[in-house]
Amino acid sequence: MKRQAEKKHTVAATRVETAQAVLPGHTNGMGTLFGGIVMQWIDVAAAIAAARHASGPVVTASMDRLHFLRPARVEEFVIVRAEVSYAAHSSMEVEVEVQTENPWTSERAVTTHAFLTFVAIDEQGRPRPVPALITETALERRRFREAAKRRAERLRERAHLARRPAHPKKKNG
Ligand SMILES: CC(C)(COP(=O)(O)OP(=O)(O)OC[C@H]1O[C@@H](n2cnc3c(N)ncnc32)[C@H](O)[C@@H]1OP(=O)(O)O)[C@@H](O)C(=O)NCCC(=O)NCCS
Repeated sequence: MKRQAEKKHTVAATRVETAQAVLPGHTNGMGTLFGGIVMQWIDVAAAIAAARHASGPVVTASMDRLHFLRPARVEEFVIVRAEVSYAAHSSMEVEVEVQTENPWTSERAVTTHAFLTFVAIDEQGRPRPVPALITETALERRRFREAAKRRAERLRERAHLARRPAHPKKKNG
């Protein structure tokens, strides 16, 4: 029983893979997939991975290092793969890789990559603790160590943003 409970908190247990087809309504003026749509698909897949680890609701705290490496075209399939790479006290980092799949050849190519941070919340929307993440492979352990460094950078950025004054309201006329 204890073994089963532990298995639930492995990186593998958080893994999510979603598939979409690029439809004409998803595209920008160039006929390729609009970035905002990809960001939504990324956010949803990553939130499911984090919510699995947290066994409950989570909110997105940040999305960073978002790179669009190549476009996705109409009729291509878009595969979004997400997994929790790090868990701290109430927050978790999720790594997301997006690939296109050619429907004729099944060939895949990486199009987008991102890291997101989610915070597990209670009924009042306050942060609540999450279980420790169990890494099982050398790659997962390496990603965990790298994620710890990114977390430290993010927290520095957040503290910096919190100190910055808001832009003044634009005067009418
Ligand atoms: C995310 C949120 C719950 C954090 O609440 P808070 O009262 O500021 O809580 P804390 O400062 O104690 O931070 C809680 C955890 O979140 C992490 N965190 C908060 N903001 C973060 C950010 N911008 N990037 C990365 N981590 C962040 C903290 O490091 C902390 O992690 P830990 O508990 O693992 O050490 C709050 O800022 C919030 O509700 N933001 C809006 C979320 C939202 O609307 N998202 C979009 C829709 S889902």
